[in-house]
Amino acid sequence: MRQALGVVRRNEWVNGRYKHLTVYAPGLAQVSQAGQFFHLLCGADVTSVLLRRPMSIYQMDPGRDELHFLYHVKGEGTRLLAEKQVGHTLDLVGPLGHGFTLAAPWRHVLVVARGVGMATLAPLIASARQRDVAVDVILSARTAADVLGEREFQAIGARVFTVTDATGSSQPEAVRMRVETLLGQGHTDAVYTCGSARLTRMLGEVANRWGLPGQVALEEHMACGIGMCQGCTRVFRREGSAVHLRVCREGPVFPLAEVMDA
Ligand SMILES: Cc1cc2nc3c(=O)[nH]c(=O)nc-3n(C[C@H](O)[C@H](O)[C@H](O)COP(=O)(O)OP(=O)(O)OC[C@H]3O[C@@H](n4cnc5c(N)ncnc54)[C@H](O)[C@@H]3O)c2cc1C
Ligand code: FES
Repeated sequence: MRQALGVVRRNEWVNGRYKHLTVYAPGLAQVSQAGQFFHLLCGADVTSVLLRRPMSIYQMDPGRDELHFLYHVKGEGTRLLAEKQVGHTLDLVGPLGHGFTLAAPWRHVLVVARGVGMATLAPLIASARQRDVAVDVILSARTAADVLGEREFQAIGARVFTVTDATGSSQPEAVRMRVETLLGQGHTDAVYTCGSARLTRMLGEVANRWGLPGQVALEEHMACGIGMCQGCTRVFRREGSAVHLRVCREGPVFPLAEVMDA
């Protein structure tokens, strides 16, 4: 983990709510892993918006020394981030936290992403496909226009299913049926999710019943992002006991079986 000044190479809208930010940051893509995050200073300095904002690594491109972020423009911090122009500097700390595990024997995984949770899961999907691991992806969003990543994941050989609030297909029980059908095909070695507490609960129950390992990338409000303030602590089930763990430090990726309060 280090603090660095990156340079914005692109910061473009991908639809009405999300922007794709590309940052030139030498040496950082090489040490970043899927599921880790950076803590970004969104304004010009700490006087404009004090706290950094956590953002998952959406893509890393070591060849170009680039980090990519996909973010929902929702409040003061991300609004300032959206104003960054090509050539502006971006103060970033990271990579932070622990990322996803993709065990060598696993040949087929299932990924369930809700909304911008897809940004956190994208580098995992890319890395699985690079290792020729089969990937089924369920993308959940409010409307068809909000679905992100469908073509991108299909292009690298993932099997993609989309579900939306608009059609009612994103309800946890409907997604559960889709998940059960895919697991029933008998190939899945592990499941992953990000972006929805309800889908996390559902996938945790299903994975437990099928005896499959699962991981979730959790979001929590963060202040320091480096394990010092305890502000992101949640309760987890570990070795039969309830333990307090920091999402920024011990996470943000946790085994699904450890999550108690999703
Ligand atoms: C590990 C991690 C990875 C994330 N990755 C992404 C990503 O790839 N793309 C993306 O769009 N968003 C991501 N988020 C959520 C993102 O950090 C928040 O949307 C962002 O901080 C909102 O800031 P704001 O000032 O625009 O919004 P405001 O709502 O004004 O924020 C007010 C405060 O609440 C915090 N906050 C608000 N929403 C969240 C949230 N969902 N999670 C954590 N803190 C929040 C902010 O950091 C800030 O301190 C991630 C969160 C975490 C914890
Ligand atoms: S945000 Fe400070 S300990 Fe996690």
